[in-house]
Amino acid sequence: MQYSKKVIEHFRNPHNQGRIKNADAVGQVGNAACGDVMKIYLKINENKKGEKIIKDIKFETLGCAAAISVSSALTDLAKGKTLAQALAITKDKIVKDLGGLPPIKVHCSMLGVEALRLAINNL
Ligand code: FES
Repeated sequence: MQYSKKVIEHFRNPHNQGRIKNADAVGQVGNAACGDVMKIYLKINENKKGEKIIKDIKFETLGCAAAISVSSALTDLAKGKTLAQALAITKDKIVKDLGGLPPIKVHCSMLGVEALRLAINNL
């Protein structure tokens, strides 16, 4: 299986890995097929326009290399964004940002999108 350079970089050195103490919201999802689990923590703030923004975001992922790379790329994309912008992040956007994923691994990118949306819904 061939991973892009960016996937390997995120896997070796994941960004925003860990948990946020006193998080404003948490979203946890699992993939029933492979058993992998992803948890997203959010800390929320308001910008000057009074819109809620993601001040901080962290992840814990028990999963495959693609799931860890997706989590890392997703948190980079969502950090500092408004909730509406974060909700607009799609799995295709993450896959593109990672320079592609092997077709058999594209489903792993769904976990990230679902965990982020669930966390926002739990606010
Ligand atoms: Fe389970 Fe990738 S194989 S998320």
